[in-house]
Amino acid sequence: MNRIIDIVKGFSAARVCMHAIANDFFKIVGPEGIALDELFAKLHIKEGEISRLYVNYLISLQLLSLRDGKVFLTPTTSELMDHNYEGVKSWVIEMLPYYDCLGNLDEVLKTGDFKKSKFNGVWNYITEDDVENISPNNTENYSTQMDGSMDVLGDKFIVNLPFEETKKAEVLEFGGGYGGLAKKICGKFSKILYHIVDLPSVLNKTEEEIEKQGLSHRIKLHRRDFFKEDIPVSEVDYVVFCRIINDWDDHRSLRLLENAKRALMDGGEVIILETMNDDHYDEFADPGALFSAFCLALLGGKRRSYEDFRKLLRRAGFGNIKFQKIGYSNYNVCYAMK
Ligand SMILES: C[S@@+](CC[C@H](N)C(=O)[O-])C[C@H]1O[C@@H](n2cnc3c(N)ncnc32)[C@H](O)[C@@H]1O
Repeated sequence: MNRIIDIVKGFSAARVCMHAIANDFFKIVGPEGIALDELFAKLHIKEGEISRLYVNYLISLQLLSLRDGKVFLTPTTSELMDHNYEGVKSWVIEMLPYYDCLGNLDEVLKTGDFKKSKFNGVWNYITEDDVENISPNNTENYSTQMDGSMDVLGDKFIVNLPFEETKKAEVLEFGGGYGGLAKKICGKFSKILYHIVDLPSVLNKTEEEIEKQGLSHRIKLHRRDFFKEDIPVSEVDYVVFCRIINDWDDHRSLRLLENAKRALMDGGEVIILETMNDDHYDEFADPGALFSAFCLALLGGKRRSYEDFRKLLRRAGFGNIKFQKIGYSNYNVCYAMK
């Protein structure tokens, strides 16, 4: 009984904690602590019953402590500030619209239609019809967040890539965003010629980024909808999808894989990095993975298992399908040959 009550109460704890992190509450408290009135002034919070209970709630969750009218960080929030605070904050900001979506769960469950969820346009390339004309303002937040998390993920991914340092190869990345992965791959493999297909609203920033790194002659940008069949490059050795396929339902994912096949030379390889459940996975034992699968479904995407990828890739005409763990969260890599 208590467990049920705790689970239900968790909704307000989650929202208060997300609000505090998204608004740099703990950063402002800092290692020295701060007087409450000063904290409220800095955060433009009106002092009164609601703000008092808000702080008390953070104290009861052991995220703050109170002494002589000053609030201080606790071991939990000190650790948060010391370890990848900006990464956690960007994740929290990404989660806020999901929180709103859950407020509309009844409608989503009744219709089974993710478009009925209030997803505030964070991921608006999935709901827009005319994606090639989305304004950069609408894609900037999301692309910046994705690029920020590429640092660690990209390093884990490139360790096992089948490219050779001394051999020329041409690579096409679908949805390469601001070019985080492209820069890492081109930095490590000096003979690679790289192509990115992404939306016009995203690639202007990518162009600036790769120019800054002096990589414009090795990374070519193609501003277009990646579902269009007339792929701008052909006979490439590898096609890379990094966190792309699971954004889409099976029908759309199949179109992407078919486009990859069109772009590849015979014997070329598609390389997919995604969160994937392996064949022995017990999803009921992993609430964390279910959480991200649920978030993805609210956006119209789909968490997939090895078997799901095998089926999709075979339907798209690929063979020799292999999987590899990269030892980072539930991200795994799938390789398949044309
Ligand atoms: C989930 S993000 C992944 C970005 C990057 N690969 C990463 O892992 O950080 C999806 C990317 O696909 C791009 N994208 C979405 N729909 C697209 C479309 N129809 N045509 C081209 N690119 C698209 C987005 O702009 C974004 O850069």
